[in-house]
Amino acid sequence: MSRAAELITFDEATSSEAFTSRFGTPDDATARLLSAVVCHVHELIKEFRPSQEQWRKVLDFLTEVGHASDERRQEWVLFSDLVGASALVEEINSRRPSGATPNTIRGPFFRTDTPERALGSSISLDGAGLPLLVEGRVEDLDGLPITTAEIITWQANAEGYYENQQPDLQPEFNLRGLFRPDQGGKFHYRTVRPAGYGVPGDGPVGRLFAQAGYPLHRPAHLHFVVRAPGFETITTHIYDADDPRLGEDALFGVRPELVHSFEQTLIDGKPASRVNIRFVMIRARPGRSK
Ligand code: BEZ
Ligand code: FE
Repeated sequence: MSRAAELITFDEATSSEAFTSRFGTPDDATARLLSAVVCHVHELIKEFRPSQEQWRKVLDFLTEVGHASDERRQEWVLFSDLVGASALVEEINSRRPSGATPNTIRGPFFRTDTPERALGSSISLDGAGLPLLVEGRVEDLDGLPITTAEIITWQANAEGYYENQQPDLQPEFNLRGLFRPDQGGKFHYRTVRPAGYGVPGDGPVGRLFAQAGYPLHRPAHLHFVVRAPGFETITTHIYDADDPRLGEDALFGVRPELVHSFEQTLIDGKPASRVNIRFVMIRARPGRSK
């Protein structure tokens, strides 16, 4: 067949075929992914029929997102989080048997250099907020304690800000700690009750979502990474059941088993809250990331 006979005239009806027919090895994984993305983009354009000016605005937005990203701020990750892509990838890749603690996304405020603290100590270095006692146990699916675990926690303060968002206002490593459980797999520490907060809305992604009237709220939560040799690492949140905005988490991280009641109690005779958490780990599975 001559090259002229193979020519597919590019128009609305043939656009996807015109693109995909050019791949030499259409079964290659990259070729399949690229074809799928391009075909979906063509479908979107056919559905929304943007003017050249509107399409230019789309490209300007993508350019702005790229410029807003660097090693300190990842605007593309925020985009992935807000459209539910991060939660979906997490859900597909880390589905666990019932009874095991599910994973959620880690988010941008984790620090790898979190200091180890003694069981029972307070991670609130400025003491600002309503005291909260966190108690918990790390165990396997049979309820046996995992004594070799390390539990890393980080959280927002009572105003809804992380320490690394307010380096001039909060002490370094405020509301962060690494704990090792006792011989029964148990741990406990003191902190303050976190507030919910808005995800960063000052970049192109936040502005786009705000313009569309989309809520950018995260209900109050504690973050955890729980690691132990031979077990799948748990990266998860614990949500405060009293938060009235639990149903509108901008990042789709709320699952019933991660919502906990923060009960009223007294610490040193003063009003406080307490929460009890069980982290259930599963054995590392071959071929799965840790
Ligand atoms: C967080 O929960 O810390 C978080 C996650 C993703 C984007 C913004 C904040
Ligand atoms: Fe958070």
